[in-house]
Amino acid sequence: MNPVLKLENITKRFSGLVAVNNLSLEMPKNCIHALIGPNGSGKTTTVNMITGVLPASEGNIFYNDAKISGKPLFQIARLGIGRTFQNLKLFGSMSVLENLMVGGHQLTKAGLLRFLVDLKGEKREETLLKERAEEVLEQIGLVNLRNEKVKNLSYGRQKMTELGRALMMKPDLLILDEPAAGLNPSERKEFVDILLKTHSRGIDLFLIEHNMDVVMNISKKITVLNFGAKIAEGTPKEIQNNDQVIKAYLGNKYTPVKTEKTEE
Ligand SMILES: Nc1ncnc2c1ncn2[C@@H]1O[C@H](COP(=O)(O)OP(=O)(O)O)[C@@H](O)[C@H]1O
Ligand SMILES: [Mg+2]
Repeated sequence: MNPVLKLENITKRFSGLVAVNNLSLEMPKNCIHALIGPNGSGKTTTVNMITGVLPASEGNIFYNDAKISGKPLFQIARLGIGRTFQNLKLFGSMSVLENLMVGGHQLTKAGLLRFLVDLKGEKREETLLKERAEEVLEQIGLVNLRNEKVKNLSYGRQKMTELGRALMMKPDLLILDEPAAGLNPSERKEFVDILLKTHSRGIDLFLIEHNMDVVMNISKKITVLNFGAKIAEGTPKEIQNNDQVIKAYLGNKYTPVKTEKTEE
């Protein structure tokens, strides 16, 4: 099966600094693929190149075999790549529902709301947006808080709302930049449950995350960056036991919980 996403020798330079250095990777279909590495190792820059926020200095990026590097942001999003941001971009004094709808409205203006098709022209955009927002509220478990102002929500629920905004456009591939950062353990568990449900609805996830319990438990494939370059790639088990990864990043950050299988 062809990869969903393919990076071919991608490099990004910021004047003197090489932020991403000759990175190649392939994300298989039906996958949760994690990108990990120390702060400053080039993870967000990689996402910015995939989504068209930044041009690559060198290399090509393909999405379902179509070349997307060089295309503008809105065209890439229209192909079905959605993302969340490391820093929340929500309107605090608006309700959860309104934030989803506004996020959706911004997407409609750019022609990005791929679901927003009313063939008979009977429904107004607002009605369609509201219907979609209600579906998303259900998916992120915030139905009961739909009218709550975002600023009154816990940080965990704000992060969930941010996820909801990305889901509004029905992406096929969702890129998450540190979605669980700052969450407490129970919020994190809830977030992981929602991510797994999202994935089971057929959405591929490309995940940047520092919490190794999250990464090791839900990823099928992990790519590790250090100083912009790939230093390892493999299954969670392979990555946990990779000396170079332990030295550059994992250290004592992660001690695998031994399951019966690994003790055999
Ligand atoms: N717009 C920019 N201009 C200049 N340098 C940048 C810019 N964005 C990121 N960098 C630098 O590129 C490197 C990689 O950053 P980033 O991709 O944000 O890392 P990560 O997400 O892994 O923490 C860092 O050294 C960072 O300071
Ligand atoms: Mg980052």
